[in-house]
Amino acid sequence: MAAALQTNTRLHPINVVPGRSFTNPSRTPCRIRCAAASPGKKRFNIALLPGDGIGPEVISVAKNVLQQAGSLEGLEFDFQEMPVGGAALDLVGVPLPEESFKAAKESDAILLGAIGGYKWDNNEKHLRPEMALFYLRRDLKVFANLRPASVLPQLVDASTLKREVAEGVDMMIVRELTGGIYFGEPRGIKINENGEEVGFNTEFYAAHEIDRIARVAFETARKRRGKLCSVDKANVLDASILWRKRVTALASEYPDVELSHMYVDNAAMQLIRDPKQFDTIVTNNIFGDILSDEASMITGSIGMLPSASLGVSGPGLFEPIHGSAPDIAGQDKANPLATILSAAMLLKYGLGEEKAAKRIEDAVLDTLNKGFRTGDIYSPGNKLVGCKEMGAEVLKSVDSKVAATV
Ligand SMILES: NC(=O)c1ccc[n+]([C@@H]2O[C@H](COP(=O)([O-])OP(=O)(O)OC[C@H]3O[C@@H](n4cnc5c(N)ncnc54)[C@H](O)[C@@H]3O)[C@@H](O)[C@H]2O)c1
Repeated sequence: MAAALQTNTRLHPINVVPGRSFTNPSRTPCRIRCAAASPGKKRFNIALLPGDGIGPEVISVAKNVLQQAGSLEGLEFDFQEMPVGGAALDLVGVPLPEESFKAAKESDAILLGAIGGYKWDNNEKHLRPEMALFYLRRDLKVFANLRPASVLPQLVDASTLKREVAEGVDMMIVRELTGGIYFGEPRGIKINENGEEVGFNTEFYAAHEIDRIARVAFETARKRRGKLCSVDKANVLDASILWRKRVTALASEYPDVELSHMYVDNAAMQLIRDPKQFDTIVTNNIFGDILSDEASMITGSIGMLPSASLGVSGPGLFEPIHGSAPDIAGQDKANPLATILSAAMLLKYGLGEEKAAKRIEDAVLDTLNKGFRTGDIYSPGNKLVGCKEMGAEVLKSVDSKVAATV
């Protein structure tokens, strides 16, 4: 079962990151849980990559919720937990060991916590924990990053925007994830003819890269409110001129979707001025990186937002958009809801199991309705809980068979 997106994209050869082996069980925290197959149940292999900081805390909670929601819908999971990021650096000296990549690549879907931390901040670039994410996205070829940003009615007051601006915001940002300036060549730092150091990167998009992400965005918009806004900088950048031309050409295949274009500087402004105008946004790697973080803040907390990264074939990568939050790691303060909602996206977009996904989404809303809040979304009158208790409450709501109607 794969998180396949139907495009005509050519596949590139896998580039696996070499690393020392940690197959010796005495040296590794990895564990493989293999339950016996139950008749009539669907089985899926899930790679769990907890990572660093609050990653292991939120993954442990989300795993239980995923397991329970799945089991109520006749699904069974074999979880394989593998180290990535700083945890892998400490264990075997590389951010993405071969075994971790292999487990991820061979799974049906991947749930990742977060990567990074102060301890490794001064590492050389290739030995930084965050390189694991870069390698995973690149080598799994997950070019489409879906980031929903919705203001839940229960959390309107957690938004930094006025209630009337924030209320009802419900958008999906579709970000191109494996191209553009983050990957373009040439890149580097060199000495120019005047003897001065210069740094440079290249914004590069081939037509097929634009077409495949645009198709994902049109399809996404079609399943939502039928509005797609393509964000670029076509008044300045040549790569954006091609972007706009390709997206515009594809629009004729989606007559039911209303396409508009916006320059990125205006989009950054409009997201704050009137975010409700947006339904689906499609944009390149760097603009998507920045705009999706901006959109996340409208919703109140980075601890609430999930994401899905999907390719043409192979497993999808599902992760909260937040980082490893080293400032609160190990203190049971992390909000696990972004990871729990990432598990719901895993079910929906990765495995096509919408009913189980809906169970999780409903359980999260139910838990918020009951007033449970972690510190990042707390407001007076609610009940302050830690990561574990929030997870336990979501689990209770899943168990109470909240209506799962799809
Ligand atoms: N996808 C990833 O794994 C990812 C993404 C961003 C940053 N990082 C890494 O994470 C580390 C910390 O980065 P940062 O501080 O810029 O970003 P961050 O997202 O880790 O934290 C930003 C702020 O949000 C809070 N926060 C984040 N997630 C939260 C949650 N679930 N519940 C409650 N509060 C939460 C943190 O406590 C912090 O105050 C760095 O090493 C960075 O490189 C990793």
